[in-house]
Amino acid sequence: MGSDAIEKHLVVKLLATCLVGGVVVGVSLFGLYSGGLLPPQNVFSQGIWKRRRKKPIRVYMDGCFDMMHYGHCNALRQARALGDQLVVGVVSDAEIIANKGPPVTPLKERLIMVNAVKWVDEVITDAPYAITEEFMKKLFDEYKIDYIIHGDDPCILPDGTDAYALAKKAGRYKQIKRTEGVSSTDIVGRMLLCVRERSVSDSHNHSSLQRQFSHGHSQKLEDGGSASGTRISHFLPTSRRIVQFSNMKGPGPDAHIVYIDGAFDLFHAGHVEILRLARGLGDFLLVGIHTDQTVSATRGLHRPIMNLHERSLSVLACRYVDEVIIGAPWEVSKDMITTFNISLVVHGTIAENNDFQKEKCNPYDVPISMGIFKILESPLDITTTTIIRRIVSNHEAYQKRNEKKGESEKRYYADKTYVSGD
Ligand SMILES: *[C@@H]1O[C@H](CO)[C@@H](O)[C@H](O)[C@H]1NC(C)=O
Ligand SMILES: *[C@@H]1O[C@H](CO)[C@@H](O)[C@H](O)[C@H]1NC(C)=O
Repeated sequence: MGSDAIEKHLVVKLLATCLVGGVVVGVSLFGLYSGGLLPPQNVFSQGIWKRRRKKPIRVYMDGCFDMMHYGHCNALRQARALGDQLVVGVVSDAEIIANKGPPVTPLKERLIMVNAVKWVDEVITDAPYAITEEFMKKLFDEYKIDYIIHGDDPCILPDGTDAYALAKKAGRYKQIKRTEGVSSTDIVGRMLLCVRERSVSDSHNHSSLQRQFSHGHSQKLEDGGSASGTRISHFLPTSRRIVQFSNMKGPGPDAHIVYIDGAFDLFHAGHVEILRLARGLGDFLLVGIHTDQTVSATRGLHRPIMNLHERSLSVLACRYVDEVIIGAPWEVSKDMITTFNISLVVHGTIAENNDFQKEKCNPYDVPISMGIFKILESPLDITTTTIIRRIVSNHEAYQKRNEKKGESEKRYYADKTYVSGD
């Protein structure tokens, strides 16, 4: 017997006794793994066999990941939890154009976004829009996929058949619970609303309406307009969700802590790239996310599009981020630098308002005077405004598509029943 087999034999014996005399063996099992024979995690909850398998369980999930948001990230997190390695298929631009019209985000940026999600292990860059039998075979044979994962919303092909029927029949399909309260349709709705309002000159009533959306309140609307689909944010932030997204780890001893702050509204590839650079300058990246009030005060009443909790989740899902401050102050104070032992404060060259250096009170005065402030050359020329412009320039096409999707979204929420999972 090899050492692996002996170890397995030992565990079998222990487990067998476990069924007879629970308490005593519970203790000896504990002793076994604290002695380093078994991995300390998941021995009890996940079962020993899964962890002891030589071959990791590979799961697959696909999507367009156009206008990626924390709902996509949460789906990827749930998918990853069903296996050991997560392979993500990103649908090509050509396939998206052929099936539903041009994507808002080009493939290059969508790939940056998906690769940056900390639960993603591998990416396939040319997944088909609807999963075919041929592609499924390729997933199983070539990519060694064990399970195909999809949300609890049905995925019906144009011919009326279930897109995942084949995988289900083969017993290689697993379902995850759809993330509550967010969809691209909803976010586009918030943006279109914000744009439409700005074109109304007398917009007192409307801007308060917009603030309700962007701040995630779910008041019923008297206004009655329904052109832009789902208009109310269904987002229900829970403490558990934040914990699931968190790394749950502070900086190690002697870590070099880098700080970057901002709104991180409509989290995009430009954000990912500057965070990657910032993380590279130290051992631990702390990200300060400005409050909704701060963002409104500096960028206008119609901002932010995503509220503080939503923005925090998007940033936390990024693999370059170690920790976030949920509601960071506008000015970086001496106290903050001391509290978090920040050794470097950075800011990108591409940002919505880089006028701060000309202003009377520069928020970075303290780190500048301490000689720990650095301007980073932003790798990508993208801002939140760029993203909004992309949507607006295709305003009508999106509105049409949105209306259609809005209908099916409405149906989804009307028919929605409780699904277990997290
Ligand atoms: C504001 O809204 C109310 C009720 O929706 C409406 O009666 C009123 O005319 C609006 N005022 C303006 C300035 O649009
Ligand atoms: C604070 O950060 C510096 C690096 O800038 C590090 O050398 C030092 O050990 C840190 N202090 C503590 C108490 O971790």
